[in-house]
Amino acid sequence: MYTQYKHEPFTDFSKEENQKDFLAALEVVKADIGKDYPLIIDGKEVMSGEWLPSINPAKTSETIGRVAKAGTAEIDAAFAAAKKAFPAWSKTSPTARAELLFRAAAIMRRRKHELSATVVKEAGKPWVEADIEVAEGIDFLEYYGRQMIELKDGKKIESRDGESNQYIYTSAGVAVTIPPWNFSAAIMAGTTVAPLVAGNTVLLKPAEPTPIIAAKFVDILREAGVPDGVINFVPGEPHEIGDYLVDHKDTALITFTGSKATGLRILERAAKVQEGQHHLKRVLAEMGGKDTVVVAEDADIDIAVNAIVTAAFNFSGQKCSAGSRAVIHESIYDEVAKRVVEETKKLTLGDPEKYENYLGPVINQKAYDKVTGYIEVGKDEAELLTGDNSSSETGYFIEPTIFGNAAHDARIMKEEIFGPVLALSKAASYEEAIDVANNTEYGLTGAVISRNVDYLEYAKQNFHVGNLYFNRNCTGAIVGYHPFGGFKLSGTDSKAGGPDYLLQYLLPKSISQML
Ligand code: NAD
Ligand code: ALA
Repeated sequence: MYTQYKHEPFTDFSKEENQKDFLAALEVVKADIGKDYPLIIDGKEVMSGEWLPSINPAKTSETIGRVAKAGTAEIDAAFAAAKKAFPAWSKTSPTARAELLFRAAAIMRRRKHELSATVVKEAGKPWVEADIEVAEGIDFLEYYGRQMIELKDGKKIESRDGESNQYIYTSAGVAVTIPPWNFSAAIMAGTTVAPLVAGNTVLLKPAEPTPIIAAKFVDILREAGVPDGVINFVPGEPHEIGDYLVDHKDTALITFTGSKATGLRILERAAKVQEGQHHLKRVLAEMGGKDTVVVAEDADIDIAVNAIVTAAFNFSGQKCSAGSRAVIHESIYDEVAKRVVEETKKLTLGDPEKYENYLGPVINQKAYDKVTGYIEVGKDEAELLTGDNSSSETGYFIEPTIFGNAAHDARIMKEEIFGPVLALSKAASYEEAIDVANNTEYGLTGAVISRNVDYLEYAKQNFHVGNLYFNRNCTGAIVGYHPFGGFKLSGTDSKAGGPDYLLQYLLPKSISQML
């Protein structure tokens, strides 16, 4: 039997023994530096002879390892393996499939610090955030496993005299999982195991900056007993294999998390029926955000400051949920802005391998150029309050940067920057602040800091985001507690970690029998 779901606890790094254990895990990961990782196709390790390097973003001279690169021939082989494995896997009992996830979760728990340390090295995530992320990965396995067991007999529908009716869930076919690098463990794991536990077979193409954590996760699934061909690991360059995976006639499902541009491209291409394709492709596409902390005139200033700073700068703002702008009632704007700047100046930036650093680097040169480019835009558009100190000499480090008095329609207020850049703006009324919060094409997360029940009710009805938070920051959704996904061009609102999530990977079948 399995226990009731509850989320994985986070490590308390204020305890010296936990710090020691984590330093030891970092040494384990360091011992593997320079290692090569194969593709996994039909349960076999395949070295294609072409490589995808994984570079430490905090120390660009360090190549952590290389992962074999899949080309179209390897993708074809992976589709063939996944198709071959599908009939048996989809008929494996849902409970057995779920138990496999529970076994994999147990292995992850045993290797938790090593996996988090890999995320620190490969994605540049600080310890605390990496630990939370691996906990979230474990949560996805535990939660979706239980959800599949709940769905195993289908759902109740009505029968009539002389007619017995049944409503059951069947699997769709081969799923393609395309995760982002910013949750290289959690989202990668969640979007791999959801289709898998639902009886689909999977091709996992990890994000190109973070393939090693995915290689380790696929090893864990295999160790837990996932049969050959059920999970296939096909890292590669998106410009070489991205369209190929999406367009393939055997793709039944695509579960994508990433930028709006890529998501829209996938949605459009997947709509075209290819020769030999006898089904419609289902696409889950979770995309970007431009998320807002709204501070009403009655707000508790301490809560507001903490919400703004943590939402903007956790993981250097590289979250779809990052609160990259705050809209503050004009009566308290000066005080809140002053305190936000003071608290931000206390944040330490540096190598995430050191526990004391609150912020690490951004992921790569492209991100560095984009974010520093937005800092230049901000200097033209608003008042620089702190930051604007960046260096890519040894790693991609950008100081947390805040702009004040930003106009409501400034670019830094409306476009996703995906880095440690925060815009502060004034509103003359609470209603105006909510209007500003709604003024982008995105609708992912948002927060309101107020105890006024009318304001909170107003936000429930008028703040158009998939994840709305009151009196806290707008990041850090927990599986099973805060189902996650956005409105508008933030995506298909699939609500990862929510009670309806697995249904999207299943084909319901209605069976009616005359008695
Ligand atoms: P990205 O779109 O560049 O890449 C995401 C994934 O898509 C990667 O695996 C990449 O290799 C792949 N890809 C790129 N081009 C492709 C193509 N043509 N065909 C198929 N696959 C392709 O995004 P990113 O930089 O990795 O991630 C950052 C973005 O992700 C941000 O916009 C962020 O807001 C978003 N994000 C959203 C959520 C959410 O739940 N809504 C969560 C995390 C990140
Ligand atoms: N689910 C992640 C968060 O809430 C992206 O921050």
